[in-house]
Amino acid sequence: MTHAVKTPDSSPKDTKALYGGTSSRRITVRDIAAAKARGEKWPMLTAYDAMTASVFDEAGIPVMLVGDSMGNCHLGYESTVPVTMDEITLLSAAVVRGTKRALIVGDLPFGSYQEGPVQALRSATRLVKEAGVGAVKLEGGERSAHQIELLVQAGIPVMAHIGLTPQSVNAYGGYPVQGRGEEAAAQLLRDAKAVQDAGAFAVVLELVPAELAAEVTRVLHIPTVGIGAGAECDAQVLVWTDMAGMTNGRVPRFVKQYAQLREALGDAAKAFAEDVVGGAYPAEEHSFH
Ligand code: KIV
Repeated sequence: MTHAVKTPDSSPKDTKALYGGTSSRRITVRDIAAAKARGEKWPMLTAYDAMTASVFDEAGIPVMLVGDSMGNCHLGYESTVPVTMDEITLLSAAVVRGTKRALIVGDLPFGSYQEGPVQALRSATRLVKEAGVGAVKLEGGERSAHQIELLVQAGIPVMAHIGLTPQSVNAYGGYPVQGRGEEAAAQLLRDAKAVQDAGAFAVVLELVPAELAAEVTRVLHIPTVGIGAGAECDAQVLVWTDMAGMTNGRVPRFVKQYAQLREALGDAAKAFAEDVVGGAYPAEEHSFH
């Protein structure tokens, strides 16, 4: 006797789900809006190269961010500040090429949009045309609303980013939790509404108290994407190297590590080296005659 096994793909609700759904076409910002209306939570990861992005795409991650965190995680800089448009464009194009389904969001790096809306439009247009991203992300609430408005008018979907904005690390003097205290919480709410009113399709909330993030999530009709912002956000994002245990040294307290890739890769490299030194590699089956 055969049993009908109910998989996540077989129920009507799951057909449209961002994660676990059956649709194989590329996800769009309309799908993101529909997920908020359904009350569905979704995952987002950063990606910086085609091969890693293809792994996440096959795993069903619906949204990937080619974040300027590539500065710390991929390019060996101290912070995100030195990352350039050339670097973001090159790696965004690789991530787009490595994926079939995920919505790819390209980050606008420090200095590529702060001058004003026209500079932002020039930078975002480059990412869309040259790299093929489906959306861009930029930091700032009220202070970036004019930039968001012009990009959205031009047909470029924008993910906003408020709370801790790492491109301002030199002004903060570190990476402190944001939105603590009455005035700071009120400012965060104003920032959230400003980016929604400007037309952003989603907003990242970084390092804000969970209760405040929950309130923002209730008040907004666009989805909130939390990182260090508690469990009530509509989506959660992590830097992939933190999530997979690839990062060297300390990771932030809000990170959960789902693998220990750094150790596994180091062990593989050592095993290869020992085989070469000891003559065990290449063996007969790896040789041509
Ligand atoms: O650049 C990045 O990876 C980000 C996420 C932390 C949201 O902005």
